[in-house]
Formats: sequence, structure tokens, C-alpha cells
Amino acid sequence: PLVTTEQMFKDADKGGYAIAAFNVENMEMVQAVVEAAEELKSPVILQTSAKTVQYANFAIFHALVKAAADGAGVPIALHLDHGNSFELAMQALRAGYTSIMIDGSHEAFEDNIELSRKVVEACAPSRIPVEAELGKVGGKEDDIDGGDGGLTEPSEAKEFVARTKVTSLAVAIGTSHGVYKGVPKLDLERLSEIREAVNLPLVLHGGSGLSEQSIQECIKRGIRKVNYATELRIAFTEGVKQALSETPDIIDPKKFTAAGRDKVKQMAMDKLKICGSVGKV
Ligand code: G3H
Ligand code: 13P
Ligand code: ZN
Ligand code: NA
Repeated sequence: PLVTTEQMFKDADKGGYAIAAFNVENMEMVQAVVEAAEELKSPVILQTSAKTVQYANFAIFHALVKAAADGAGVPIALHLDHGNSFELAMQALRAGYTSIMIDGSHEAFEDNIELSRKVVEACAPSRIPVEAELGKVGGKEDDIDGGDGGLTEPSEAKEFVARTKVTSLAVAIGTSHGVYKGVPKLDLERLSEIREAVNLPLVLHGGSGLSEQSIQECIKRGIRKVNYATELRIAFTEGVKQALSETPDIIDPKKFTAAGRDKVKQMAMDKLKICGSVGKV
């Protein structure tokens, strides 16, 4: 069923594991992720970025995920990833998204607080959880190559959470969106300090390209949601390319998108195992 992340995070906190959150961009990726979670008896989060809801719209992605989730025997949440305005967050809320990220990390501290607080206030009556971000995750979003300043300050995190009442917090500890050029240097000590300062689920962005060992070390230190986008895109596109090159006269889109779907399902299963959420349903 389609649910919020509230119970998922409670269980993950108790069990010391994380919920994998996968960026989906079409029906096949939705199906692939839901199938992976069902097969492994794992809770899961499906999320769409601002660009993705522009590509289709909230209603279409909500309908796809709701239909897939209703037929699944595992808890599934639908989350807005990197919501970049109050308006976009409200559109997600009205469309039936069960979790919302408002990303004010590019704003000044006080403006980030103000924006995040407003979204929390608007979502509270519907009991929809809100993720915010403090500090800068590197990558194509802002051309910062992870770790280059802008990491989350534990004392600021404490104040931010107290004043906004967000229900989860994305932290900048050296990860980047996209695949990494070198080996990413994560500030694990900082992560532990943040976790000591705030008592809520922490979110790791930029999951693609991180080693299994790094992810698991972060989970030990309080990460309860790990975001994966780029590696799923690569998997889907590789599957499609492979099918098209093996059978160049394909004209039925189902034939090559199914190949992409298979690859995404495999990738999602690998990530669910790394996050430790397998068999938790
Ligand atoms: O940050 C998450 C994903 O990489 C989203 O990328 O904004 O191109 O959809 P996008
Ligand atoms: P990657 O593309 O590095 O997996 O990052 C995903 C992400 O953080 C989405 O918000
Ligand atoms: Zn992100
Ligand atoms: Na990454």
C-alpha cells in the first residue's frame, strides 16, 4: 500500500537500517522498484524530482505509484525529491504524495528555515512528513564537487530542526549527486556529531557511486534514507541500448523498455540489500 514514511523510519531506527529511496522517471522504473521491494519484502520510497514532474506531472506519477503500491504487499511511500518552492511542495501535497522534500539549502540559513517551516506547517494537518536539507550536497546541482565547503554544521542542524520541526534532514557530509570522479571523502565524524545534536532520521543524498561499506558506515551513524538516482538511470538506459543493439529491427517499445525495467529491478534489489531493509516487512 501507499503509506507515509512515519512508520518506516520508526522501524528503521529500531532495526538500525535505512530505507532506500529511488528516483523514478517512467512507468517501467516504478514497476521495477516496486517489484524489487516486493520480492525482497522490503519497505521502499519512490521519488520524483522537480524535473521529472515537469516531464510528466504529479497526477501521472501519483497514479502510477498508487496503482503499483496498492497491488504490493509492502509499504511504499511517494516522495517529492528536491522540491524547490513552496508552490511545488503544495502541488505534491494536493496530488497525494505521502512525503515531501523542500530543499532550501541554496538559501541563506534564515531563509531556509523560513521556507522549510512554512512547508512543515502546511503539511502537518495531513500528517505528511517533510524532509529538508542543510548544507550543500555536491554534484551537478550546484557544481560543488562534494566536500568543498558547505558541509552541515551540527549546531546549526540542531537549531534548524528545532525551529522548522522537519521530520527528516538531508545532510552534507561529502557526498555528491551523480557518479564520483575520484573516491569520495566522507566526513563520518561530522555525521555522528549531527546525529548527536538532532534526534531524527538523517538522509544521505548522492547514493550512486558510494561503496557498500561507506553506505553501511553511514547507516551505523544514523542515516535512515539513502537516495539513488544516477545508477538507476544508467541501468535503465543500458538495458534499452543492449536490447536495441541485439535486435536492431525492434519497433515495439515494450520490447526494449522491458529490458531497461529488468536492469533497474536488479539494481534496486542490490541497493535494498546494502541498506539492510530486506525481510523487514
Ligand atoms: O537529485 C536527484 C536527481 O539526480 C534528480 O535529477 O533533477 O535531473 O531529475 P534531475
Ligand atoms: P545520485 O544520483 O548520486 O544517486 O543521487 C540521488 C539523489 O540524491 C536524489 O536526490
Ligand atoms: Zn539529492
Ligand atoms: Na552519487
